[in-house]
Amino acid sequence: MVSRWLLGVFVLNGVVGAAGAVDARRGEFGTLADGRKVESAELTNSRGMSVRILALGGVIQQLMASDRNGKVADVVLGYATAQQYLDQPQYFGATVGRYANRIAAGKFKLDGKQYQLETNDGPNHLHGGTRGFDKVLWKIDSVSSGSPAKAVLSYVSADGEGGYPGKLEVTATYTLNDKNELAIEYRATTDKPTIVNITNHSYFNLAGEDTPVDVFGHRMTLFASQYTPVNQTLIPTGERRSVAGTAFDFRQPQTIGARIRQGSDDQLHIGRGYDHNYIVDGEPGQLRPAARVEDPQSGRVLELLASAPGVQFYSGNFLDATSVGKSRRVYRQGDGFCLEPQVFPDSPNRSDFPNARLNPGQTYVNTMVLRFSTAPQAS
Ligand code: BGC
Repeated sequence: MVSRWLLGVFVLNGVVGAAGAVDARRGEFGTLADGRKVESAELTNSRGMSVRILALGGVIQQLMASDRNGKVADVVLGYATAQQYLDQPQYFGATVGRYANRIAAGKFKLDGKQYQLETNDGPNHLHGGTRGFDKVLWKIDSVSSGSPAKAVLSYVSADGEGGYPGKLEVTATYTLNDKNELAIEYRATTDKPTIVNITNHSYFNLAGEDTPVDVFGHRMTLFASQYTPVNQTLIPTGERRSVAGTAFDFRQPQTIGARIRQGSDDQLHIGRGYDHNYIVDGEPGQLRPAARVEDPQSGRVLELLASAPGVQFYSGNFLDATSVGKSRRVYRQGDGFCLEPQVFPDSPNRSDFPNARLNPGQTYVNTMVLRFSTAPQAS
């Protein structure tokens, strides 16, 4: 890509913008087996960071970030073709909803009425069912260069879709600035009382998707003093357990792999690793630090700021070498980690968990910021 600077104005492949502006463009990613075209939006800043978003599922298909020597790599897992996102169940980079995570037995009650959702994960409902927000074509409403650059996607989920009540109008706004901050904001409104929990399901590998390195050596900090332990089917038991003295304590940086095989902790056995909701310290509704992850080799650092009450930390436990990614990498357990800001799993069935209810006239908002930087080599 050729860029040249002219009196504080830069010309980038024919696009003229103010200095510091981030370039945005629309494109076409590919075609699904049934002939539908999948549009894309790409935001690129002047520091080597870029993100490619697909109209299919609002998927983050590619996220390029520099290492401490300026070498750029794709730091998210994903597929080379659009159809694979429909065929394979891992939710790589996807927008998940209407209800991200699990609802016990797919059942919940609202104003005395019982609802039954699809049970697509053993006995439970997971990530909105087999045709959740990750499997539908969103509309790309706008793509604009600037500071920050912005892509706005929308989707209207009909009343009753997936078994959920209410017509839900959803937007997903992605912005990228020149400080290497990618912000994602989900908003939704409804015409009937309903439940909502929308998040992004990117699997990160800060070493790069095209390396044979897993994420067990990444050093993670989670700003969370408690988490919600789960039963055998990964539904929270209701307990809010202190992380102190357990393999779940990431309040000080620890490698993801250091304690993941600690079978004395039943929770790691049930989840086949980490697959748990952490209760983020601080005030829910406020954007606050949720996590910091550093790859000591490349120096890439990801900081996550989140407004949601919880973050699901999933260490890619169910990646079982059955899928092949963008760079022809066979994905194995631990090849990526997810940090999914959200309300707690099964909240609709627990009055003491954060509220997942949305009424007409209210706006659901879930905001997260992924900030990329680099750290120097440890001496
Ligand atoms: C869940 C995992 C699940 C994965 C599916 C995560 O959000 O916590 O249990 O296997 O999504 O890709």
